[in-house]
Amino acid sequence: MKIEVKSEKLQDCTAQCVVVGVFEDEQALPTSLKEVDEKMDGVLTGLFADGEISGKKKSTQFIHTFGKTAVRRIMMIGLGKQEELSFEDMREISARAVKEALRAKITQIAFVSNKEVDVLGASDAAHAFVEGALLANYRFPGYHKETEEKPELEELTVLCAEETASEVTEGVRVAEALARGTNLARDLVNMPGNYLTPTVLSEKAKEIAERYNMKVEILDKADLEVYGMGGLLGVSQGSIEPPKLIAIKYQGTDKWENVVGFVGKGITFDSGGISLKPGAGMDEMKGDMGGAAAVLGALEAIGTLKPAINIAAVIPTTENMPSGSALKPGDVITTMSGKTVEILNTDAEGRLILADGMSYARKIGASYLIDLATLTGAAIVALGTCTTAALTNDEALMEEVMEAAGEAGELLWRLPGYKPYMNQIKSQIADLKNTGGRNAGAITAGLFVGEFAEGTPWVHLDIAGTAWADKADDLSPAGGTGAMVRTLATLALRRTEQGERD
Ligand code: BES
Ligand code: MN
Ligand code: ZN
Repeated sequence: MKIEVKSEKLQDCTAQCVVVGVFEDEQALPTSLKEVDEKMDGVLTGLFADGEISGKKKSTQFIHTFGKTAVRRIMMIGLGKQEELSFEDMREISARAVKEALRAKITQIAFVSNKEVDVLGASDAAHAFVEGALLANYRFPGYHKETEEKPELEELTVLCAEETASEVTEGVRVAEALARGTNLARDLVNMPGNYLTPTVLSEKAKEIAERYNMKVEILDKADLEVYGMGGLLGVSQGSIEPPKLIAIKYQGTDKWENVVGFVGKGITFDSGGISLKPGAGMDEMKGDMGGAAAVLGALEAIGTLKPAINIAAVIPTTENMPSGSALKPGDVITTMSGKTVEILNTDAEGRLILADGMSYARKIGASYLIDLATLTGAAIVALGTCTTAALTNDEALMEEVMEAAGEAGELLWRLPGYKPYMNQIKSQIADLKNTGGRNAGAITAGLFVGEFAEGTPWVHLDIAGTAWADKADDLSPAGGTGAMVRTLATLALRRTEQGERD
């Protein structure tokens, strides 16, 4: 798709449709439409006066110019009340405009950056247009014998004044990278388990890393044995698919220091293992690599934006399957850290592979750790599907992640990591047990992972609820959402702007 910034007058724009926002409290037609209105003998002013052009948030109205101007079609879209318009609203409004356009088989659209710029600033307004548009344009093609032809956006233009062109261009650049990363994560989550095996996931990771000249290392079973990664090996032993550990280094500064570790859970299918899950909804467990997808999506964005920071991305990946060779309840395993774990439920597998992922991220130099995982049903019970659950051992890093999420427009809420919860995961015969029972399930799972940070500042993000959507919304179809890609990438950009901590 072609994305352009043009300092062109609305009436001269040759895109199939120009989208113009109108506020609810507006008394007159937007000034950018003045010349079109004159050429059309005041038709637009008339429609406005009659109340046919509505500023109600997300309402849309097509206006045809019948050859009177170069611009063929205008879509008026309601922005709601001027004093209430936020970045997130603008993104959803843009998404709605794209969906309406596609419904009318319009594949080239232009956004006019005028009034809303006063509220959001030129760069943020352009960012919101483009991010909203690209997220709304996403579709997973699927595996049909004959693919259904559906209109897709081909050209996206942002029309702006010459004075704001450089700011607008910067907003567009960031938005495009973030949206591309998010859509990549969505694709990975939407891929069925038979297509996206741990081996295929490693190949995809390698492709992304190589595209952006990042160092990549894929550890196979023999390597995992050398490191004593009993967590990852244990979970994988019931599957015929070989496990992998993907490690990617993005180095944006001269020295490999102040490295942020992104550790993503990469279970390509979670059947529960011997503690088998119920059948209903088990198919969704093809998305149990949402954490890995978020990490790879963020790397895709970071590879384009090239922030001056260092990232160590680590993805332990395997299937969790029942079989004669599978891990059993009661078994005790030894992780790379040396800590032992009593397995009480083989369906609590994410924390076992993350344990080794965290140790490996520390080994390759991570001085901060952020793990991302579709870890617990309990996170969904606690916060539903719109908010990611967080846990930490470090106030400053938590604050940083919260701010990045706020800027990226993703919802996050912190759970308490108080010490007494640790009692729930202490074992009689090993250092830890892998479940702490039903109570506070999202917290005990997070704290289990935190044990492998071993004092390194760490934030845990449980995306079990947010990585997958049962229903479509403005910005995303049903299925993989790409949750936390934008937060991770925004965190990387903010670190560059602010200079690294310490
Ligand atoms: N992958 C699941 C968590 C999950 C559930 C993700 C629903 C997305 C949607 C995880 O491996 C799991 O099975 N967790 C168990 C832990 C329990 C056995 C302690 C759970 O949440 O039930
Ligand atoms: Mn599980
Ligand atoms: Zn799982």
